[in-house]
Amino acid sequence: MSYFKLGPKVRREELYNREDELNRLLKCWKRGDPITLVVGPRRVGKTSLVLTAINEKAQPSLIFDLTRLKRIRRTGFESFMLIVEEALNSFIERFSRFRVKLLRALRGRNEVRVTEHSVLFRAVDGLEGELFFKKLIDIIDAIAASFKVNVVLVFDEIQEARRIATSFEYIISYIYEYSTRLPMTLISSQEGLMHKLLKFDDVESPLYKAKYTEIKLTNFTEKQAVGFLERGLEYHGIRASLELLKKIAKAVGCNPGWLTIVGNRAVKARRIDEKLLEKVTFEISTILQEELESFLELRPLARERYLFILRSLASSPKSWKELKSSLEARLNKKIGNKNFSNYLHNLVDAGFIIRKEGAYQI
Ligand SMILES: Nc1ncnc2c1ncn2[C@@H]1O[C@H](COP(=O)(O)OP(=O)(O)OP(=O)(O)O)[C@@H](O)[C@H]1O
Ligand SMILES: [Mg+2]
Repeated sequence: MSYFKLGPKVRREELYNREDELNRLLKCWKRGDPITLVVGPRRVGKTSLVLTAINEKAQPSLIFDLTRLKRIRRTGFESFMLIVEEALNSFIERFSRFRVKLLRALRGRNEVRVTEHSVLFRAVDGLEGELFFKKLIDIIDAIAASFKVNVVLVFDEIQEARRIATSFEYIISYIYEYSTRLPMTLISSQEGLMHKLLKFDDVESPLYKAKYTEIKLTNFTEKQAVGFLERGLEYHGIRASLELLKKIAKAVGCNPGWLTIVGNRAVKARRIDEKLLEKVTFEISTILQEELESFLELRPLARERYLFILRSLASSPKSWKELKSSLEARLNKKIGNKNFSNYLHNLVDAGFIIRKEGAYQI
């Protein structure tokens, strides 16, 4: 057992303090709730929670990893189908009893080449791609019904589907309306963007008033963060003072992902002290910088404006008005309200800043 293994956890004993959430998720699947949302900030353990639940019950499931679309600005349905192909191949590998029936149902279709153990999609885009995806859903639903089991469909980082040039809410609503055995679990670290995409509250949306259950993950409390480090370090025979553990918890905002990196590096160094903390904090800031860089790469024209906003927030929280006038002073020109609000929205959506009590902060 190690709490400090990098990458998503897949075993209950490696997942610290998520018993309640795990049981809630398993209950949703057992009941066959059509939509379960798993939301929470970056690196809080959303993927770990879902993969652990799947592994625990050997739950038949297709995992659509939409994080792969993250660095693309706009793309066709074809990119989504590559993700579907990967999910399908992993599904038939993990759940071999579905393989024979599924491959038999797909054989002879011209959108796909079927080999003995896997499928290879022909590039299918646009409407043709959508129709094929819906067909796939029907086939999987029918096979699940014939086995009298549910097959969970996981969309990891669903908001990334906004990059696909298709109204993705129609894809989700198709599954919602027409399948009987396919409960969906939608993971998102950008709740605002997810709701913008799926529009549960918009009368015009096919998902208007669709029923969903939400499981919200939050960072650990200080006590939990310290407990996580303590137990993980103890397993590896590494000692640390309570004072240092509290300091570490605070330095990384009690975030499970960052705490895991600290623990992982401590295990490698066989010790934990101020020097190690300093090194890991530097490593973390490099990771964040890289993430910021890929965010800015997609927005070259406003790059300097974004950096200016982030730098001004680094010293203290500021209001919309304060930020706007200091940016205007810096550029020596006026910026439209809508434009400026967009900058802040994008930074919030990407998780670089938060809005709290009427002010923005890092
Ligand atoms: N409860 C936990 N117990 C042990 N390790 C955890 C826990 N939660 C998260 N982790 C670790 O933190 C890191 C991030 O977890 P994970 O990838 O599951 O989070 P996420 O919320 O899906 O992140 P992202 O927003 O990047 O997709 C991983 O290394 C994982 O092993
Ligand atoms: Mg994840």
